[in-house]
Amino acid sequence: MAMCSMRNIVRGLRSLAPWRIAFVAFFFSTFGAATLAAQSAIATAHPLATAAGYKILEQGGNAFDAAVTVAAVLAVVEPYSSGLGGGGFWLLHRSADMKQVMIDAREVAPAGITPSMYLDRKGNPIPGATLVGGSAAGIPGMPAGMIHLAEHYAKLPLRQLLAPAVALARDGFPLDGRFARIAEAKERMLRDGVNTARTYLDNGHAPQPGYVLRQPQLAVTLERLAQQGRRGFYSGPVAQSLVDAANATGGAWQTSDLELYRIVERAPVRFTYGGATVVSAALPSSGGVTLAQTLNILEQFKITDARDPATAHVVIEALRRGFQDRMRYLGDSDFVKVPTATLIGKRYAHNRAATIDVNIATPNDTLAIEPVALASESYNTTHYSIVDQDGNRVGGTLSINSWFGAGVVAGDTGVLLNNEIDDFSLSSTIANNYLLLGSRANAMVPRKRPLSSMSPTFVEDDKGVLVLGAPGGSRIISMVLFGILDYVNAPKVDLERMVAAPRYHHQCWPDQVEIEPDSFSPAWRAALEAKGHRLHVVGRRWGNMQVVFKSKTDGASQAASDPRSMGGY
Ligand code: DON
Repeated sequence: MAMCSMRNIVRGLRSLAPWRIAFVAFFFSTFGAATLAAQSAIATAHPLATAAGYKILEQGGNAFDAAVTVAAVLAVVEPYSSGLGGGGFWLLHRSADMKQVMIDAREVAPAGITPSMYLDRKGNPIPGATLVGGSAAGIPGMPAGMIHLAEHYAKLPLRQLLAPAVALARDGFPLDGRFARIAEAKERMLRDGVNTARTYLDNGHAPQPGYVLRQPQLAVTLERLAQQGRRGFYSGPVAQSLVDAANATGGAWQTSDLELYRIVERAPVRFTYGGATVVSAALPSSGGVTLAQTLNILEQFKITDARDPATAHVVIEALRRGFQDRMRYLGDSDFVKVPTATLIGKRYAHNRAATIDVNIATPNDTLAIEPVALASESYNTTHYSIVDQDGNRVGGTLSINSWFGAGVVAGDTGVLLNNEIDDFSLSSTIANNYLLLGSRANAMVPRKRPLSSMSPTFVEDDKGVLVLGAPGGSRIISMVLFGILDYVNAPKVDLERMVAAPRYHHQCWPDQVEIEPDSFSPAWRAALEAKGHRLHVVGRRWGNMQVVFKSKTDGASQAASDPRSMGGY
């Protein structure tokens, strides 16, 4: 092995949390597959998912095989983040024919959805209706997405790909501190939810780290999926249980909603920034469009480090404009006309950039909307990045929306329903859980997909290829933006810094810059306040970014995981 790739591996290892280092060391010594490891990289939010992904590569699978296995294992070990009851987006690059595609496995609204389920007679939102119970849940896309990945891109049989998840659900696994902390934070919800106490609590209490969580019913559902494919989930007894559970808790589901669920292969959003090609999520995720707009605007300015106060001002102003357009124009393009080509064009960005004053913040325009109450911070999602020895890539961002989704485990299926309906806009003045406002473009309509911010992204230039993404609702977009800026503008690729560096965020409304606590100096804050920005220090740091990089020089690959989840959420 070339010294250079060894150096990269060592650097990659240094970026890993201790348990990840332990795993990779185990991988090297057990399988003696240093070359394979050096040429491939997997970053996920959980060591058991990373381990299962590497093992599938070792068994002859490609990045797409690993992507199915990782998604299924995350559904078992991070049930608060993603799962069979949820959905998401996978961005794929297949090296054999250079095909790049986004698999849209976003949840859809059931045919029976009506705004009256969420708004009272006066037009006020009914508390909790978009967040708790069956009314909050969209028709899941995750199983269909995994099956599509397996059938069209992977090499190994679905049974083999799902086997690690089945075993972990059936035999159990010891909970880590993160699970214990999240379960404690959501203990009441889990006690009050449907079948959630018996599924996730230990005798009615949040389990301690080390508690072995077994999910035998989920194991059976995963086995059904492995044996019967989509039929095992979208029709028959599992589908019936999902419909019954949703409808018993405020939903309006029909079995035909499940029968008719289809993933969509979509062309990703593609643009250039600073000589790099960026490929990111297409609608119904706002990620690619908003990133393209923001970066096209930033291209008009001299950008240094995104955390430098002068640059931060311009980044905030670019985000303000990108998110303003997100609010005005974006929604599921199968249902509404979205001027995507214009929005992501360089000319439009040129005009938008011209309205930025480098000395002073632009006040939000005439739509005078009072900043609404701060969002609860209990949201979760998961992202993973994979690159294999052949150069295939996968960025997958999967979600059930907020922690433990709608708080309903359907019957005996072990499947937790999502609460992605909250991502629709109930009206132009009602913000969702992430304080996002939207227009009619994102109005709730039967079978429509709610607008998302999930942004699995590739960045490619002469140095190599980066795969990145993160959970975090609307903040996903600014996190991925920083990742791209860091990659393109920093003198050398430094994944460790990319995942660890402090974060700020602006989304037009509310007109405030959210900043991570203990992350920005008084001088930094004073510089931004002097330009007219209102800063809001958020209670805790956010995100759980997972990044992999493959060098074009020698094919060496490295991975880095956000340190925030260690000791945090
Ligand atoms: O699709 C979306 O944009 C949201 N439902 C994602 C939720 C999320 O990232 C929560 N993570 N912390």
